[in-house]
Amino acid sequence: MTTPNPKEVSGRHAADLVKSGMTVGLGTGSTVFFALQRLAERVRDEALEIRGVPTSLDTEQKATEMGIPLISLDEATSLDLTIDGADEVDPDFQMIKGGGGALLREKVVASITVKQVIIVGRNKVVERLGLAFLLPVEFVPFAASTVRRALQALGCEPMLREQDGQPFVTDNGNRIFDCRFPEGIAVPRELDRSICCIPGVVESGLFIDLAHVLVIGEEDGTVEILQKH
Ligand code: 5RP
Repeated sequence: MTTPNPKEVSGRHAADLVKSGMTVGLGTGSTVFFALQRLAERVRDEALEIRGVPTSLDTEQKATEMGIPLISLDEATSLDLTIDGADEVDPDFQMIKGGGGALLREKVVASITVKQVIIVGRNKVVERLGLAFLLPVEFVPFAASTVRRALQALGCEPMLREQDGQPFVTDNGNRIFDCRFPEGIAVPRELDRSICCIPGVVESGLFIDLAHVLVIGEEDGTVEILQKH
């Protein structure tokens, strides 16, 4: 017998919440991959009619290969439901996202979504954000030095994200600082505001009041569903 994968059980469960006729935001990451697989199965086997809006070039490519119909963000004024992952979620449903580098498009899509469904394994649910995971901040390359100093002044240690020995470049042509907060993040809402006010910052990986439903995958193959009140 194979051991259940919490990412897979939460991803598949979320995909089953989608109904025909919906415009659906498609998040990014390894958990979302399982949701895409299940959506593709339903498009094929149940004639599920959806229009997906991808949050990254990676998701766009995967969804296209799987046969999920896509539209651009310009063609949607609002999204019925978005399925996305997270790096950390706290008891108030506030999140750190951007481990996969797609935070900017993910936040734009979340901002026009009626029901944001977040899929995570139990290990991503934390009491305080930022203790185990670094906070990603996307910024324009021109402002690297000034943004670094401003982030340091907020009490963190920013590290330039690299890939294959080169600065990581986002889908939007920007860079990312992964920020270590030694004590974690005490007040996520305030920190998000402060970071987003730094000239040159494009977006912070703090997602405040942007999750409505948590689908938490367990090691035993079950899911726990939590709704934001
Ligand atoms: C990408 C994200 C992802 O949702 C987050 O990193 C979780 O990824 P995974 O499901 O692979 O653990 O925010 O920008």
